[in-house]
Amino acid sequence: MEDKEKTMNKEIVLRCEDLTKSYTSGLIRTKTILAAKNATFDIKRGEIVSLAGESGSGKSTIAKMILRLIEPTSGDITLNGRSIHSYKKREYYRQVQAVFQDPYSAFNPFYRVDHVIDRAWGLREDNLDTDERKEVIESTFMSIGLNPSEVLGRYPHELSGGQMQRLLIGRSLLIGSQLLIADEPTSMIDASTRAGVLNLLLSLKKEKGLSVLFITHDIGQAQYVSERVLIMKEGEIVEQGSVNNVFTRPKHPYTKELLAAVPSLYEKWD
Ligand SMILES: Nc1ncnc2c1ncn2[C@@H]1O[C@H](COP(=O)(O)OP(=O)(O)O)[C@@H](O)[C@H]1O
Ligand SMILES: [Mg+2]
Repeated sequence: MEDKEKTMNKEIVLRCEDLTKSYTSGLIRTKTILAAKNATFDIKRGEIVSLAGESGSGKSTIAKMILRLIEPTSGDITLNGRSIHSYKKREYYRQVQAVFQDPYSAFNPFYRVDHVIDRAWGLREDNLDTDERKEVIESTFMSIGLNPSEVLGRYPHELSGGQMQRLLIGRSLLIGSQLLIADEPTSMIDASTRAGVLNLLLSLKKEKGLSVLFITHDIGQAQYVSERVLIMKEGEIVEQGSVNNVFTRPKHPYTKELLAAVPSLYEKWD
C-alpha cells in the first residue's frame, strides 16, 4: 500500500494512450494484423515498468513506437506531457535511449567500442573538453560497474554480452537520458551476468531516478526488476498493476497461464 502511494505521487515521464499499430500484408488478399491495440499506460519518474508477454504479442512494436522508429496507426505518446513528435529528434534521443536484445548490433565490429561512446557526446547540450569528458566517463563507468581501462580501446568481439549491455546502459547515462527502453536486454547474455544487468537497472533507478520500460518474455525477471507490470497478449495489454497484485492475484486467464508456466517465481537471483 505504501509503495503504491509512493508511485502514485511521482510525476509521469511517459504516457501512451490508445496506442494502436496495424500492419497490412499481402497484395491481392490483404491481411491486417493489429500488432498493438489501444495500449494505454504510463511510466513515472524513477520507476521500472515491465512489459511482459510471449513472443509476437507486440512488445517490440510498442518499444519501436516510443522510440519513434515506427509511426503509430493511432493513439498518442507524450514525454513529460508533450507529444513525442513535438521534440526535435536530437532533443528526444537525449532523453530517451534504448538497449536491445543483441548488444553487438549497436556496434560496428570494425570500430573500437569507444566510437559509440564518442558519438554520445554529440547528443549532450554541454560542450565538454577532453578532461571533463574523461571525468564523466570515469564516474559513469563506475556507476555501471565497468573499469574504463578494461573496456575502452577494445573491439566489440573482445567484450562479453554483459559488458556490452552495461556499456550501452552507460552510454544512455552519459547522455543524461531519463527514460530507458530496454527490449529483452538480458535474453542474449548468459544467466550468470544477467542478474548483474538487472541489478544495475535497479541501482540506476534508485540512485539516479532513471525510468525504465523493461520488456521481457520472462515473467520471473519482470517480478524481480519492476514494481509495476503490463501483461501483453496478441497486441493487447490484458492486465496491469503492481507486481504484487498481478502476480499474487492474477485476474486475467492469460496471466494465470503465464504464472503457471514459471516453476519458482519467487526465486531471487544473486
Ligand atoms: N514490419 C512488420 N510487418 C508486419 N508485421 C509485423 C511487423 N513487425 C511486427 N509484426 C507482427 O506484429 C506482431 C507483434 O510483433 P512484435 O512487436 O515484434 O512482438 P514481440 O516483440 O512481443 O515478440 C507479430 O505478429 C509480428 O509478426
Ligand atoms: Mg520483441
